[in-house]
Amino acid sequence: MSTVLITGANRGIGLELARAYAKRGDRVLACCREPAKASALAALGGNVEVLALDVADAASVAALAARLAGQPIDILINNAGIIGPPMEKQTAFEMDFDGWAETFAVNSMAPVRVMQSLLPNLRASKHGRVASITSQMGAISLQMPQAFAYCASKAALNKFMRLAAPALAAEGIHLCVIHPGWVQTDMGGASAAITPAESAAGIVANIDRLNAQNSGSFWKWNGETHEW
Ligand SMILES: NC(=O)c1ccc[n+]([C@@H]2O[C@H](COP(=O)([O-])OP(=O)(O)OC[C@H]3O[C@@H](n4cnc5c(N)ncnc54)[C@H](OP(=O)(O)O)[C@@H]3O)[C@@H](O)[C@H]2O)c1
Repeated sequence: MSTVLITGANRGIGLELARAYAKRGDRVLACCREPAKASALAALGGNVEVLALDVADAASVAALAARLAGQPIDILINNAGIIGPPMEKQTAFEMDFDGWAETFAVNSMAPVRVMQSLLPNLRASKHGRVASITSQMGAISLQMPQAFAYCASKAALNKFMRLAAPALAAEGIHLCVIHPGWVQTDMGGASAAITPAESAAGIVANIDRLNAQNSGSFWKWNGETHEW
């Protein structure tokens, strides 16, 4: 049994990740901004603990770390994310800078803050792993000129996690970033290519094979390696 902490677990891909790990008997620390409203999480059953976490709020992250002090965490999944300002306000010609800053806070900096705050818990595991849900839109190699703030935020996340991987591997903690596919969620929209359950199953399989040899990888949900 592993202990798995998931951010943004109340809906979308995060909810399906919580369901997948709960189903296989793992202990799930399902984090969300408003636990009292997380009815889908409450209905999951299994070994699921719903915890309050606003990933962009330093005090909230610190409170979570304090609450979990002394408890090993085997897998941290940085899943919470936002698309950023309206599309017409994040282009080559026009930018909502406050919205871009918020997008960076949630998508780029929060995964780092959460990971660093929970390092004692990851160190206490026999095999600590951190998977950050990125996007193909954060790949420098992909020229898809839309959602510029979102793309830049995921590119920053990718760069940080790739840079950090060797240092953390020296402590036995392994990192990856995973593109979850184009997924039928509030963010992906109803016409997206795959269901949240398909995406979550692929993400779980990727995390299962994360080890010292492949730490620092950028994967797609289906197991393929993604171009940086
Ligand atoms: N769907 C896709 O096609 C797709 C493609 C590529 C990458 N992704 C990535 O996959 C991840 C999950 O996306 P999704 O499609 O499941 O999106 P979603 O349905 O919009 O869900 C986003 C989740 O993130 C949470 N969240 C946002 N800001 C937060 C904050 N400050 N603190 C804590 N939680 C916060 C939301 O919580 P609230 O309910 O409180 O807002 C919600 O649980 C994201 O990182 C996204 O960028 C998605």
